[in-house]
Amino acid sequence: MLAKHAAEAREWRLDELLDAPGRFGDFSLRCDAPRGAALLLDFSRQRLSGETPGLLKALAEARGLDAARAALFAGEVVNPSENRAALHPDARAANPVNALLTEQRERVGAFARRFRAGEVPGAGSRPLTRVVNIGIGGSDLGVRLLCSALGDANSRPVDFVAEMDGVELERALSRSDPAETLFVLCSKSFSTAETLANAYSARHWLTAALGEDAPARHIAAVSANAEAMAAWGIAPDMAFLMPDAVGGRYSIWSAAGLSAWLSLGSACMNEFLDGGRWMDRHFLEAPLEAGMPVLLGLLAFWNQSLLEHSTQLLLPYDTRLKWLPAYLQQLEMESLGKSVDAHGLPLKGKGVAALLGVTGSSAQHSIMQWAQQGARASSADFIAVRDGGGAYPRMHSEALRQMLAQAEALARGLPQSAIASDPLASHKALPGGRPSNLLLLERLDPWHLGALIALYEHKVFVQATLLGVNPFDQWGVEHAKRLAADPLSQPPLAKLLDD
Ligand code: F6P
Repeated sequence: MLAKHAAEAREWRLDELLDAPGRFGDFSLRCDAPRGAALLLDFSRQRLSGETPGLLKALAEARGLDAARAALFAGEVVNPSENRAALHPDARAANPVNALLTEQRERVGAFARRFRAGEVPGAGSRPLTRVVNIGIGGSDLGVRLLCSALGDANSRPVDFVAEMDGVELERALSRSDPAETLFVLCSKSFSTAETLANAYSARHWLTAALGEDAPARHIAAVSANAEAMAAWGIAPDMAFLMPDAVGGRYSIWSAAGLSAWLSLGSACMNEFLDGGRWMDRHFLEAPLEAGMPVLLGLLAFWNQSLLEHSTQLLLPYDTRLKWLPAYLQQLEMESLGKSVDAHGLPLKGKGVAALLGVTGSSAQHSIMQWAQQGARASSADFIAVRDGGGAYPRMHSEALRQMLAQAEALARGLPQSAIASDPLASHKALPGGRPSNLLLLERLDPWHLGALIALYEHKVFVQATLLGVNPFDQWGVEHAKRLAADPLSQPPLAKLLDD
């Protein structure tokens, strides 16, 4: 039924759908929240008839979305290959059910308050004042996104070191005074090669500058592996824990957000958690057809699995969200990038599309040529902030006008007939018919960022339920790590790399 509807939908003219009376009203959803917070989703440029949402909702019901959602929030095993729950909603709950989450949030908050008050002395007894976060993937992208989006004049300076090649570490150390620097070693497994390599180099730098006792006072750590942290030499009062049942790419809500607590402060982080909690309640309580996470998940499934787009674009029109594409790339592609379902059986149909993203203005000078005129259709999520709040409101408004123009051009195209007198008409024509969402946040504050991240976490969960995949494991990244660690498996080129 849905496949037949999709075959028909491929033939519809998106510009005609857009021009239907009441289109915006019928295909947009506004969520209002306390203190003037709001999110508006305009999905009128999606390839949908009035019948499509009902068909997608019926599919979600048939695929057991209600029960899956209840299991997630009840802390049941929703990650069968690792026999774990997924506790990221609990990690942001006002009163987590999981005692470790409660205990560690209190410790992280207290440590952040002391650090920001200048009451955490280093080995030389001077207060520690700057942070270097050492971690990768979910142990890096969340804190990097929050500090980039929410940092202000009151934030404590923070650097991020993730890559194995030593360049980020060298740059961070070049602008750090050892006596005032706190390293946060963030690694859920405490076995990630990139993170441990950077950590050893940082420890060597500290010891050389301040002596053997320095690391214990200058290196904090966050992990699910308490024994490994202790064995590495992390002092008990500098060791913070997260449960195994909080996935790395879902861990910003847990103690893995430590560097953001240290840089941004507890008030900011508690507001961030509140925004995530609000989205949880909305996901749980809104009727299926009026829930923003459900809608986004259904639309993504429609575009990627039924209309078979191989690429999805994530285009934030706000420089403060420049790390959002990288963050959602990990969330979406490590969660949904699978070819077997939760039972290990081959997936039917198309899986998740590749996620490509960059800040919107820059996109207009790079990937939008492909998006507007390339041979393959894609779908785009434009994300913007209505009240930019900055010193240049007219420029902010112009950026949003450009975003709307991009969405209109994707949807309506530029027919050759409209430029028939132009000798280059065939080169300048745009096919159109390319769908997009416009997601407008009222403003960019901790609450809205929390709501946005939780929105996409639940969108991924909805899409995983429709696909039948387990969004909480990531076996696909393990083998290459083993290959890299096994000298016998090195290809010939590897021999050239040894200096
Ligand atoms: O890429 C695999 C992965 O385990 C991610 O899921 C995770 O966020 C990242 O590596 C870092 O892992 P850890 O926090 O254990 O160092």
